[in-house]
Amino acid sequence: MLSGRGSNFLAISEGIAQGRIANTEIAVVISNRGDAPGIAAARSAGLVTEVIEPRGRPRADHDAEIIASLQAHQVELVCLAGYMRLLSAQFVRAFPQRILNIHPSLLPAFPGLDAQGQAFAYGVTVSGCTVHFVDEELDHGVIVLQKAVPVLPGDDADTLAARILEQEHVAYIEAIARVLSGEYRVDGRRYVARSDGN
Ligand code: GRF
Repeated sequence: MLSGRGSNFLAISEGIAQGRIANTEIAVVISNRGDAPGIAAARSAGLVTEVIEPRGRPRADHDAEIIASLQAHQVELVCLAGYMRLLSAQFVRAFPQRILNIHPSLLPAFPGLDAQGQAFAYGVTVSGCTVHFVDEELDHGVIVLQKAVPVLPGDDADTLAARILEQEHVAYIEAIARVLSGEYRVDGRRYVARSDGN
């Protein structure tokens, strides 16, 4: 699911094509905006796409239409890739521990909008990205994977965002492959990779 540029969606799509995410297909790409470049890219790639706009409806009604589409397409894992709307509790409950999001900071630092700008303004020397399960709080669910990215001398918020974005594309593919492998358990807030005898 996306709302904009769609570079993370394209990275995931490439990851599948290259076999880095095995035995997987993209069942449907959903945008809440008809003008999102990402949905145009999905269409050009020959994927099934749906534009489901809120059109002033209450969030629950909009989400119900999206849930119905995901179910009709037999989606097993929902990946938010720059989807710029909060999900209702009803949405989260329809796909328990089956919704992933990518966020451009090392959570729990800098949740919310413009995480890269927030990190830069705060003066941190390391930031990064986080792939996490979606729960009912913003940028909050169990963390599957993080990648650290240094803030370099001469950076501004844009150069930092670009360096983080490169790592997002790697991280999302890795995280999806891990989750689809099923080789993990969740212990409280902790994602624990399964090793022998575990
Ligand atoms: C990414 O920075 C992602 O972390 C955030 O929204 C941005 C989406 O970029 N959630 P793109 O549309 O995938 O290029």
